[in-house]
Formats: sequence, C-alpha cells, structure tokens
Amino acid sequence: MAICELKGATKTYGSGATEVHAILGIDLTIDAGEFTAFVGPSGSGKTTLLNQIGCLDSPSAGSVHIRGKATAGLSDVKLAGLRAEEIGFIFQSFNLIPVLTAAENVELAMSLAGQDGGHDAALALLAEVGLEGLGGRRPNQLSGGQQQRVAIARALVKKPSIVIADEPTANLDSDSGRAVLDLMRALNEKHGTTFLFSTHDPMVVDYARRVVTLRDGAIVSDERRGAAS
Ligand SMILES: Nc1ncnc2c1ncn2[C@@H]1O[C@H](COP(=O)(O)OP(=O)(O)OP(=O)(O)O)[C@@H](O)[C@H]1O
Ligand SMILES: [Mg+2]
Repeated sequence: MAICELKGATKTYGSGATEVHAILGIDLTIDAGEFTAFVGPSGSGKTTLLNQIGCLDSPSAGSVHIRGKATAGLSDVKLAGLRAEEIGFIFQSFNLIPVLTAAENVELAMSLAGQDGGHDAALALLAEVGLEGLGGRRPNQLSGGQQQRVAIARALVKKPSIVIADEPTANLDSDSGRAVLDLMRALNEKHGTTFLFSTHDPMVVDYARRVVTLRDGAIVSDERRGAAS
C-alpha cells in the first residue's frame, strides 16, 4: 500500500535570476513498511525531499500525498496537523531538551500529543529502545548514541506511520551509528513503521532495503536490495 506518493513534486526557491529548483519533477511512491535511504551529493535535494514527505513544507508545483491526503496548498496549520498525525522526526543533532531528563523528554512529547501515560509509559518506551535504567539522566549524561535513542523513543510516542531521519548518524561514531541503525531496523520489523533516512555514509546505506539517489533535485537511480545482516 502506498503511504506516500509524489507526482512531479517540485520545490523552487527564489525567482528570476536567483531561482533554484531544490527538487524538480520528483515521481516517487513509498509503500508502508519501507526502510529507505536517500543519498546523493550535498545540495542534491535530500533534505528538501524529506521535508516535503514530512509535511514541513509543501510543493511549489506537482503533488505530494501522505496516506491519500494532498499537502499542496494546505495552510501551515493544516500541514502541521497532518504532520502531527503521521510523522515522527529524528534529527542529526538529536534536539533533546537539555534541562530535562531522558524520561521527561519523552513525557513532554506525550503530553504535547495529548497522551497522559506519564512517567511509567515514558520509561517503557525508553526500555524499548534499550535505555532501561537511564530515564533519570539528562542528555549531557548520555552518549551520542544513547541521546539518539531517546530521540527515537520520543519520535515513536505518536506511533507515526512514517519516521523521517535526515542524516541520523552524522554526529555519531561508527559503532553508535550501527547501534542506532540496528534499533531503527528492529522497530521497522516489529511495528512496520516506515523509516526514510538520508545519509552520506556508505555503512548506513548498507542497511537500506531501497536506495534512492538524487542529483540536482532529480532521482537518478532507485534500487531495491536485500538488507545487510
Ligand atoms: N531555504 C532555501 N532557500 C534557497 N535555497 C535553498 C533553500 N533550501 C535549500 N536550498 C537549495 O536547494 C538545493 C537542495 O538543498 P538540500 O538542502 O535539499 O540538499 P541536501 O541534498 O540535503 O544537501 P546536504 O547533503 O548538504 O544536506 C541546494 O541547492 C540548496 O542550496
Ligand atoms: Mg541535507
């Protein structure tokens, strides 16, 4: 089942002599449960494309549908509503709140999502990402890989249909990066959550079951492969 469909999706910045097509005429179908990497040189449009799928932005031309709902022309409020329903985000720099503990970071996401699971539910989610016993630590008392696990737990609070991770391992050493990818893949297999990530790291690309390569805002290859073990 297509969870996300782009047809001729184009994002143009500026106008006249300064016009830039960050993505241009992208046709792409993502099925539920995919584990897909977006690769390509710096400036090729990876972040722009993920932001379109993540409902952080809508196309200047063409269409983007998330579970059948079009994002083009939506007001910022409507776009934010769709994003809140469907999308979880993991960031390169983790984006945890430094004065809150790991558990409090997850609890805050729960209360923002209107859930009242409280502390125990937050600890259960942290246990699921391998952080049993670490809920009381603040981000600066955790390793980078552990911080990214907290961020993954936070992204899962809403049980999103799609998790978007723009260069999730860029600030991690390769062992921590592998651990984060192993976790993402385990969650993908357990819950069927669709994971879409961008990277410059060949090790991370090896985890993907589909690799979409961008160049100058267009898809130049789209390859399905068996996942590395
Ligand atoms: N807000 C903006 N205003 C103007 N141009 C932009 C804007 N955002 C992106 N661009 C341009 O769009 C193109 C694609 O940028 P994008 O950030 O999507 O690339 P990327 O593949 O994610 O690169 P990187 O690997 O460096 O993260 C680049 O030429 C960039 O300069
Ligand atoms: Mg980018």
